[in-house]
Amino acid sequence: MRYYVMTLFPELITKGMNTGVLWRAMEQGLISLDCFHIRGYTKNKHKRVDDYTYGGGAGMLMACQPIWDTYLAVQERIRERAAAEGRSPGRKRLIYLTPQGRVFDQAFAEELSKEQELIFLCGHYEGVDERILEEIVTDNVSIGDYVLTGGELPALVMMDSISRLIPGVLNNDESAEDESFNEGVLEYPQYTRPDEWMGKRVPDVLLSGHHAKVLEWRREQSLKRTAERRPDLLADQTGK
Ligand code: ADE
Repeated sequence: MRYYVMTLFPELITKGMNTGVLWRAMEQGLISLDCFHIRGYTKNKHKRVDDYTYGGGAGMLMACQPIWDTYLAVQERIRERAAAEGRSPGRKRLIYLTPQGRVFDQAFAEELSKEQELIFLCGHYEGVDERILEEIVTDNVSIGDYVLTGGELPALVMMDSISRLIPGVLNNDESAEDESFNEGVLEYPQYTRPDEWMGKRVPDVLLSGHHAKVLEWRREQSLKRTAERRPDLLADQTGK
């Protein structure tokens, strides 16, 4: 997976990706990151990326030109890579991070993890001129119903959850299979040593060594927890 990120804060993106599992995945060549600093592609002498809004109103908008030129540079990089590898570049999905987008979830992460390259556009200020969005964006994506100051944190959230689904990124101990949201229910409670802590004992069934009973207990606990904490997930499953 190759990520291309168009941003006004490249250091935020690179710092976020250069830790833990994602750093290891980059070292192993399983994922790669190319940041494009939008301010570097402005054509005016003050390197301004924003301007006033037609029709009035508070706040500034990111203008088309710097984003368009950044986009052309991304396309050029993608073409060079494809040529070097003897394949055709094809059309890539370009994700614009916005509270007005389709809400990101595990199924969407799985869908995007099958792509080979993804481009992210991180917006700022009060928004972005609609014309550039119409021209280049394939997917408008929100990470939830709240408003952030920019698209960088949402892009990091998406790259984190997509990357961990790519084969080899997690090792066996960190397996992506048996976890919250698998089969649409939450994960059961888990315990490690000691078997008693502050007077609280690990449930006997987990110490019993009876595999079938352990599985049954976990399934029950998953459903109980989902009903208590996320009843909406169970409603989704029954098609309501
Ligand atoms: N930009 C600002 N808020 C956002 C959100 N909730 N999701 C994605 N991008 C955003």
